[in-house]
Amino acid sequence: MTDWLKQPGFFGTHATLGADLSQLMATLFTGLFLVGWFQARRGQGHAHHWLMLGGMVAMLAFFTSYYLFRQLGVLAVEGKEGFGGPQELYDYVFIPLLTVHIILVIIGLVMAIYMIVLGFRTQAIVQGRRLLKDAHLQTSGKKIGMILGGLTGLAVMLFLFRAATAGFSMRKLEVYLGFVALVGLVLGIETTIQRIWPNGADRHRALGRFTMIIYCILFVTGSTTYTMLYILFPGKIG
Ligand code: HEM
Repeated sequence: MTDWLKQPGFFGTHATLGADLSQLMATLFTGLFLVGWFQARRGQGHAHHWLMLGGMVAMLAFFTSYYLFRQLGVLAVEGKEGFGGPQELYDYVFIPLLTVHIILVIIGLVMAIYMIVLGFRTQAIVQGRRLLKDAHLQTSGKKIGMILGGLTGLAVMLFLFRAATAGFSMRKLEVYLGFVALVGLVLGIETTIQRIWPNGADRHRALGRFTMIIYCILFVTGSTTYTMLYILFPGKIG
């Protein structure tokens, strides 16, 4: 699989098949989510729900498996080799752009899961139409504690299982601790967000717009990285 992804791509640039596939999927998913956004704006709750739910689940499945196959590497690990342009451009443009892109990827992944949960919690079916409930929606501190406690327990169990079957490593411990810390951070931010938008419908609309803006910026930063690496300044890799 990894070798297959390293074959020349289909766009006729210097990219590998993996990079072209990733760019194609990013374009398709961004287009799909934009359609979902317009559906929501037109009040087509059912269509919006199915498109966003299906699209986000497919996107999460594709990108997590794809990055696992590419061993999370991309260029951050492959280093300067892949970039054939001047050093200044690499240091002051390419690396900051890639860093912003990766940070937005993490925010985008968290928001995809968060928005699906929020969508289900806020929706109501009224006379066959799917609407957002115009009501107060707040998660108690106790419930947040239970969610975090449950997920921490699950992470500890998974870690112990992995350590017992595949051996202990600091890297694995860091990954599991990082996951728990990320969930804690998200829940911490969530309590603040709940105070700003106590109404579930307002929260879904505001955070939904925020998520859509993140996806648009992701598409632009991703495509710029692709253009710099595989069209304008191709290096040794790709
Ligand atoms: C996963 C990513 C999602 C994003 C980014 C998102 C985004 C949005 C946005 C921006 C709006 C407001 C549009 C506007 O009025 O300007 C909206 C409305 C809505 N969303 Fe979502 N949404 C998502 C998932 C879901 C899910 C999973 C459901 C259902 C379970 C859902 C149900 C609704 C409903 C019912 C509306 C109201 C439509 C109307 O005004 O009649 N959304 N969404």
